[in-house]
Amino acid sequence: MIINDLFFAKNILEQGELVAIPTETVYGLAANAFDAAAIAKIYQVKNRPQFNPLIIHSNSLERFSHWGIHLPESAMALAKAFSPGPITFVVPKSALIPDIVTAGQNTVAIRIPNHPIALQLLSELAFPLAAPSANLSGMVSPTSAEDVEAQLGSQIAAVLNGGKCGVGLESTIISFVGDTPKLLRLGGLSIEAIEQVLNLKLDTNALINNENPEAPGMLSRHYAPHTPLYLDAAELHLNEADYAEMAFIGFQKKHPKIIGSNQIILSERGNYAEAAQNLFAAIRQADALGKKLIIAELLPPENLGLAINDRLKRASVKG
Ligand code: TXA
Ligand code: MG
Repeated sequence: MIINDLFFAKNILEQGELVAIPTETVYGLAANAFDAAAIAKIYQVKNRPQFNPLIIHSNSLERFSHWGIHLPESAMALAKAFSPGPITFVVPKSALIPDIVTAGQNTVAIRIPNHPIALQLLSELAFPLAAPSANLSGMVSPTSAEDVEAQLGSQIAAVLNGGKCGVGLESTIISFVGDTPKLLRLGGLSIEAIEQVLNLKLDTNALINNENPEAPGMLSRHYAPHTPLYLDAAELHLNEADYAEMAFIGFQKKHPKIIGSNQIILSERGNYAEAAQNLFAAIRQADALGKKLIIAELLPPENLGLAINDRLKRASVKG
């Protein structure tokens, strides 16, 4: 059920049930982060492996601090520049957070979402919300209340409506646990923007396997449409006739051989933020065309193009 009443959502969450909530990145499937039984329902509904930890959300760093979760000095400049926003900080865990949230790790991921409804809800609640993206594990992340309702509507009490997500990609995740800040996930805030504020190069070693296009087997399958998605049409040895059976997701320009109505362009003006905002809806839309396959074009490997390419590569992994 899609609802607009924030206090209704608050009530459900206080009773230990799940509510899907809007954020600026993607919709999250939220539960009381202090309530292990409520958190267990998230894993169950998403069919998420228990070893994959959750991000917890609140409306200010002061509140996290009050709960025993502190940002190191080195992260403060970033938080000042970009929080609330599409950035998640991995820091030492507090004893208040149940082990099920962090999958037994001694670190916890925290984030302040930049969405007015999420911020108001979080400020009304006495606890932080654990929230993974509100999709079945391995599927495309939802960027509208309708996306969530279509996939999880029958399994959760409510989806709080917050319109279409402005960023459209999940948050960028940085670990502040070691000596150098380590990039754990490319996302809605570009590496360039982060490095400029930190005035240093991020450690990107944790991403290397996932970044290597030579070894798509190293990529974990995720964001997967039902229709097989390919990044390189050349590997398919296509005939002219095959093009009628294809959908295309392109950055700025249409594919010359594919039927116009089977094509989705992410940003005609070549704007990375606009392309990011449209990406997951484009994958859903291309999938809904019910063609034999989807061809997707990679973006230039800079700015949000890097995060968009990461999602497209994962969507192309065959499982
Ligand atoms: O934008 C977002 O981050 C969205 C919205 C809803 O906030 N959430 C999201 O959650 O993308 P999810 O569960 O789909 O992805 C969370 C990622 C996972 O890759 C998980 O492994 C990682 O965060 N993560 C969570 N806690 C961690 C920790 N303590 N250490 C390392 N990685 C962690
Ligand atoms: Mg996810």
